[in-house]
Amino acid sequence: MINIVLFGPPGSGKGTQSEKLIKKYGLSHLSTGDILRNEIAEGTELGRRAKSYMDAGDLVPDHEVIAMLTRRLAGSKDSPGFIFDGFPRTVEQAGALDQELEKLGLRVDIMVSLEVEKEELIKRLLLRAKDTGRADDTLEVIEKRLEVYTSQTMPLIDFYKKMNKYASVDGMGSVDDIFGRIVRVVDDCK
Ligand code: AP5
Ligand code: MG
Repeated sequence: MINIVLFGPPGSGKGTQSEKLIKKYGLSHLSTGDILRNEIAEGTELGRRAKSYMDAGDLVPDHEVIAMLTRRLAGSKDSPGFIFDGFPRTVEQAGALDQELEKLGLRVDIMVSLEVEKEELIKRLLLRAKDTGRADDTLEVIEKRLEVYTSQTMPLIDFYKKMNKYASVDGMGSVDDIFGRIVRVVDDCK
């Protein structure tokens, strides 16, 4: 059992590396961004409430994502572990994650922070916009997401450093090279 918080700015490769980690370690993927996009696609109430925040590049309110996470955790009790991708994004969410995991007798084992230069992040996301047309991959919204990451999400680095769970990984280079770096860090903490 291992629970990994995969952390990093928009475009740092959280989704890409999650897929590979799931295959290698058999973990459950918990991506709040993916869940929210599904809610929007299905036209649910939650999707309707989240859409304006996501379109603007703002965070969806903590209480909404925390409730979402709690439901998902309860529904996957038998999982051999989780990859939290894009969650937590605020100190409040990180506290809630600890509390919810504790109720299940679990904890975050490691927070892997993907470090990528800003120019590269923007390049990747603009390229993705052409392939997938994700609604928030416009230059204006990308800039806003990066600002929100710096002001609201980066403080979590200290949160996990204090608990000795923070591991920085160079997120520049090929997908496979980066994956190799993550695997080394994960295997070290097992
Ligand atoms: P979310 O879906 O989490 O998006 P994000 O954090 O902006 O990150 P991305 O998914 O854009 O990037 P990624 O790091 O997953 O990179 P990827 O692997 O795709 O959140 C979206 C929105 O939902 C938020 O703005 C917010 O509104 C809301 N939300 C979500 N979670 C929330 C929460 N917890 N609280 C509140 N609100 C929340 O890679 C990007 C691209 O680069 C891909 O095309 C990929 O193929 C490519 N790529 C990957 N690695 C490489 C590489 N090594 N070299 C070249 N290209 C690469
Ligand atoms: Mg993603």
